[in-house]
Amino acid sequence: MSGLRGAPYVPMRRKLVKQLLAFGDLNSKDILYDLGSGNGQVLIASVRDFHVREAVGYEIAPWPFFLSRWRIKRSGLKKISLHRQNFLDADLSQATFVYAYLFPKIVDRLAVKLAGELGPGTKVLVPSFPIDLARHPEFLLKKEAKIGNITAYLYEKI
Ligand SMILES: C[S@@+](CC[C@H](N)C(=O)[O-])C[C@H]1O[C@@H](n2cnc3c(N)ncnc32)[C@H](O)[C@@H]1O
Repeated sequence: MSGLRGAPYVPMRRKLVKQLLAFGDLNSKDILYDLGSGNGQVLIASVRDFHVREAVGYEIAPWPFFLSRWRIKRSGLKKISLHRQNFLDADLSQATFVYAYLFPKIVDRLAVKLAGELGPGTKVLVPSFPIDLARHPEFLLKKEAKIGNITAYLYEKI
């Protein structure tokens, strides 16, 4: 089901999550949105290890949604909210940091939405499949790096 929406449930390798968020310069002033939040590991790490102001997850597939809800509850962390909803229908305007580990087609659709909703300076971290800047000139590539077996791309909304 989730595959039909654009990306299957393939969690990021756990040991890479912290490295990716550090690469993205995530900090305690940020409001992180994980679009397709899977098992909740990015939401949890962003609050526990980077002390973000708030972490917001959208997950459409039932199994990762329920798993992440349980993991978040077990973590005892209070600053996380989780929605079982298509992120393409959500209001993303409050994000200061977007993390989206998805497939190219959905990255492209999402980029249109992010270009319209995000404020200037918002960070967008995309592992594996970059945003096509020729199609989406509203973003600036700040840096890219190989992290484990993943290439990560950090953009800023202009
Ligand atoms: C590759 S996994 C990434 C999970 C997690 N963010 C991580 O890095 O470990 C992508 C997730 O996005 C979810 N997803 C795909 N399209 C979605 C959509 N339109 N709205 C909400 N969730 C979606 C899938 O169900 C899947 O769990």
